Amino acid sequence: MSLLSFGPKRGMRDFGPKASLFHRKIIERIENIALLYNVSSVSTPLIESIDLFKRTLGNESDVVGKEMYQFCDRSGEEVCLRPEGTAGVMRFFLNEFGKNAGGLKRFYSVGPMFRYERPQKGRYRQFDQFSVEFIGSDDPFSDAELIAMGRDILRAFGLSFTLEINTIGTLDERISFKKDLVSYLKSFEDALSDDSKRRLYTNPLRILDSKEECDRRILENAPVLREHLKAQSINFYTGVLDHLKNLEVPFVENHQLVRGLDYYNATTFEFKISNLGAQSTVIAGGRYDGLSEQLSGTSIPSVGFAVGIDRIALVIDEEIFPKSKGVGVISIGQDMNQNKDSYTLCERLREKGIRSSLFTSNSFGKGIKACSKEFSFGLIIGEDEVRNHNVILKNFITGEQVVLSWDLKDIDSYL
Ligand code: HAM
Repeated sequence: MSLLSFGPKRGMRDFGPKASLFHRKIIERIENIALLYNVSSVSTPLIESIDLFKRTLGNESDVVGKEMYQFCDRSGEEVCLRPEGTAGVMRFFLNEFGKNAGGLKRFYSVGPMFRYERPQKGRYRQFDQFSVEFIGSDDPFSDAELIAMGRDILRAFGLSFTLEINTIGTLDERISFKKDLVSYLKSFEDALSDDSKRRLYTNPLRILDSKEECDRRILENAPVLREHLKAQSINFYTGVLDHLKNLEVPFVENHQLVRGLDYYNATTFEFKISNLGAQSTVIAGGRYDGLSEQLSGTSIPSVGFAVGIDRIALVIDEEIFPKSKGVGVISIGQDMNQNKDSYTLCERLREKGIRSSLFTSNSFGKGIKACSKEFSFGLIIGEDEVRNHNVILKNFITGEQVVLSWDLKDIDSYL
């Protein structure tokens, strides 16, 4: 029963000490893999101008059309909470390095994103993404290398996955395909789901992503984007798949994987895991050669993905992270000098890299109880220990205890 009549807003959550540490450890593990791939950290603001996303994600995307948290700031400017991280990183890149920087730069960024979606398991209105962006390479090897990093990230958590991959070609190729698709779908317009009826006139390619049974049946015989691709697009895609085979990254092709944001072209991919229900995609991304063009007029070939941290947290066990060593210090009695000595012991433990904090109590039982809630070991000090210049180390799990000298010289061998 909560004390207050209000909690966090719908689709948003508080993270207590355990959950918050768990999230941080997930991020740290992903970060270690990104560093192995020579990726550097960047950070961009949470609040951005709406225009950044309108120009890059597209006005017809669900994110811009109905999911952005947008408001006027105190100067009257229309701003929003960022719904994704790629546009901001590209904005940073262009301002920092210019449009003719040349060469490949690799960035990762991590933090909260905001989308006003209908909340469900694995889908929140505030969620954390770990994004990786390879900016400045038109080599299919970059796509494969990035995807191999995604595989390594999921492996680091012991997760098995299905990697779905597709190519959506160039804008011209999609325009030609869109014409075919729309004319096919129009002959079934009445039988489409309501969402797809609307998308037929706004963003028809997104109908390919529909999970509705009525749409799926119609899509079975729909025209195929692949047939509108020219040799250059096919060769690039074949190049990515060949590199993936070389890197031993297993994949399945999904010809209908188009992704929901306008900035994508060529490669699109999603890593899915089976025990997440409807929100099964844990990593998603693709190539976005046109994004920088929308911002600066110059195309910079790029590819990236984002990991959904909250979804990873749903499917892994907290136990996969080794617990940090910790010893609480329990001072029994109210003697000021004894408490000072106890505090010195805490300091000594921290100097040895061992987590510690002090528990003072008049009662032995109460002191042990409080300490054992937070630590597996306790150092007990009462009058006798101060007099004899030693301490008792108690293992709360086994009940064993040993007497140690004041300098805690051998403590490591007992933890
Ligand atoms: P996205 O597919 O919109 O792509 O999101 C990427 C991942 O973020 C999803 O696969 C999912 O794991 C997680 N995610 C998305 N929405 C939610 C939500 N409401 N609740 C919980 N998790 C969610 C992008 O955002 C692109 N910026 C990815 C990218 C980077 N493309 C190129 N570079």
